[in-house]
Amino acid sequence: MEERLLMVPGPTNLSKRVREVLSQPQVGHTDPDFVKNFSETLQLARKAFRNKRGYQFVLTGTGTVGMEAAVASTVEPGDKVLVLNTGYFGQRMVDINKCYGAEVEEVGAAFGHHANLDKVREELATGHFKALYVTHVDTGTTVCNPIADIVREAKEAGVIAIVDGVCSVGGVELDFDRMGADLAFTGSQKALAAPPGAVLVAVSNDFLAQLEAKKDRIRTYYANLLRWKGVMDDPRTYFATPAVQLMQALNQALKEVEEEGLERRWSRHKANAKLIRDGIEGTGSRLVVEEGYRADTVTGIWTEAGAAPAIQKSLREDHGIDVARGLGDNNTKMLRVGHFGNLTEKQARFFVESFAQALKSSNST
Ligand SMILES: Cc1ncc(COP(=O)(O)O)c(C=O)c1O
Repeated sequence: MEERLLMVPGPTNLSKRVREVLSQPQVGHTDPDFVKNFSETLQLARKAFRNKRGYQFVLTGTGTVGMEAAVASTVEPGDKVLVLNTGYFGQRMVDINKCYGAEVEEVGAAFGHHANLDKVREELATGHFKALYVTHVDTGTTVCNPIADIVREAKEAGVIAIVDGVCSVGGVELDFDRMGADLAFTGSQKALAAPPGAVLVAVSNDFLAQLEAKKDRIRTYYANLLRWKGVMDDPRTYFATPAVQLMQALNQALKEVEEEGLERRWSRHKANAKLIRDGIEGTGSRLVVEEGYRADTVTGIWTEAGAAPAIQKSLREDHGIDVARGLGDNNTKMLRVGHFGNLTEKQARFFVESFAQALKSSNST
């Protein structure tokens, strides 16, 4: 199959080396080579989060399993939590918390806006909350929240800080040790450029100790991090059969992150994001998010009412580029363009040229 330029907000194009790993013969999950490979993956995952001090998990499951593990690890029925609901995945965090019996307060934001730090501070000052949940980059609105400031406020208020880094880790600066969050997670399929289906969870030692102290009160089976801990401590141990090829592919993808260097990778994402945003604005199109809070991994574009499907179609059919549309009510008036993982400057420029042409052709139809 001809390779398309995948610029949806995840998954993203895989490197050749990652694809080669995926086509290797099947091995068992207790095979010594696989065990060694997985142990190395855990160390590489630490590096992607800058998690030297805490504990690292890598599980088979999508980003939503990470969300669920975070909630199940934190709340017990009746606990009050604060969710910074800045979009689709903030809303999912609200819903999961409710599933686990939490009483949820929200700091909302108008579509495409970030969580307001003063409001967060005000809410935290009420002293009501056990935990705060924040989405670093909300893939639905393409907003990037000021994560370091928010986590600092939560920790100063003595509240557990949980960060959804699914659309940021590996593409936007997130330094787990420095930030001081209790738990942060990401999925394999976005800025790390591995296939979908693995979730990487970084946990502080304090939070892990809290988990161990309440181990009988964690009301989930598969998403219970403590059940996975035995496997992380000794990858020869069985809890649930890992997606072996996926884990091997993640290992290769994380090696490529390490080879590039995290800071260089963040800089590449920043430069490509700027190039793409400038190019889009150069066509007279409007970006969804205000300057200063735009994500370096994904960009939201407003289109003329009803025009998003035609632009998307032209990008796909005339230029071989796949992008996504807005979610829900924004489905026909918003495009979402992922620019993370392995995207090169050349590909970013190709997108900009193609977007301008697709826009023109949609205007003339
Ligand atoms: C910010 C964010 N959080 C959570 C998720 C859920 O991840 P998954 O679809 O892998 O379950 C996504 C998916 O796009 C996401 O973008």
